[in-house]
Amino acid sequence: MNSVNTTIASEATQPVETAVPVQESKPAETVIEEGKTVGNPFSNDPKFKLRDVEVFYGETRAIKKISLDIARNEVIAFIGPSGCGKSTFLRCLNRMNDSIDICRVNGTLQLDDHDIYDPKRDVVELRARVGMVFQKPNPFPKSIYDNVAYGPRIHGLANRKSDLDEIVESSLRKAGLWDEVKDRLDATATGMSGGQQQRLCIARAIAVSPEVVLMDEPCSALDPIATAKVEELIAELSESYTIVIVTHSMQQAARVSHRTAYFHLGHLVEVNETNKVFTSPEHELTESYITGRFG
Ligand SMILES: Nc1ncnc2c1ncn2[C@@H]1O[C@H](COP(=O)(O)OP(=O)(O)O)[C@@H](O)[C@H]1O
Ligand SMILES: [Mg+2]
Repeated sequence: MNSVNTTIASEATQPVETAVPVQESKPAETVIEEGKTVGNPFSNDPKFKLRDVEVFYGETRAIKKISLDIARNEVIAFIGPSGCGKSTFLRCLNRMNDSIDICRVNGTLQLDDHDIYDPKRDVVELRARVGMVFQKPNPFPKSIYDNVAYGPRIHGLANRKSDLDEIVESSLRKAGLWDEVKDRLDATATGMSGGQQQRLCIARAIAVSPEVVLMDEPCSALDPIATAKVEELIAELSESYTIVIVTHSMQQAARVSHRTAYFHLGHLVEVNETNKVFTSPEHELTESYITGRFG
């Protein structure tokens, strides 16, 4: 068990007669030891090896010495209260943070044993290997076909039209969208429903044959039926890809992931098999979060 430091501020400073009533529901202040993650944060077969990762926005440290392996072909869910650093940490994995001027990343971050932040690294190639799907579906204002063909075209993955057609079809099939759109590939993507747009964005991400797909709350703008479709898709994709998903929904984490990582105020508090995190968490902060005491 971790050390608990309960401090009730009013007790020490106020005489008994005038003491303000102590709120019973005030959570105990739990000290988080920097860099210490309980459970099972490492893997024998890591796709990503991340050590002592710190992320600063200007002077503010948003990620505090996190070490984690992400295993090949696993689905790992990142959960935790809003603002605790899930998106920030996720964006380190394909250097999406590079576009934020004040953002600085320290530590060792490796993809297949190679430094992600090596200045010589081709970031466009990195992002083809480590694709990303965002919270709000963001298709280009182009046709359905051109959205999926976009990546393969810029990466020169198809020499002939027939090769490109094949990539577009197979990506849409993998994204579970082919039957719905095969007769209107020339229609503009922004006219699709939200759920279709999100599956199109997944098709666009997988069209360049990535090894990893990062998803930042991919279902939070979707209705339950569209969410169920995307979750089914994640389960299928996990056979071929490593998937990192940030989610606000604990049910979703429980349904789709193998391991779950609990973030709190920029710390990585616990990583365990998903089932364990939701049935018998090791850390009291994880327990407080999953039982709904904060979040
Ligand atoms: N572009 C940014 N510039 C400055 N601070 C940021 C930026 N993005 C996130 N932050 C800060 O970093 C912390 C972690 O944010 P974030 O990674 O978005 O958390 P989460 O995804 O868990 O909600 C928050 O305090 C947030 O305000
Ligand atoms: Mg976020």
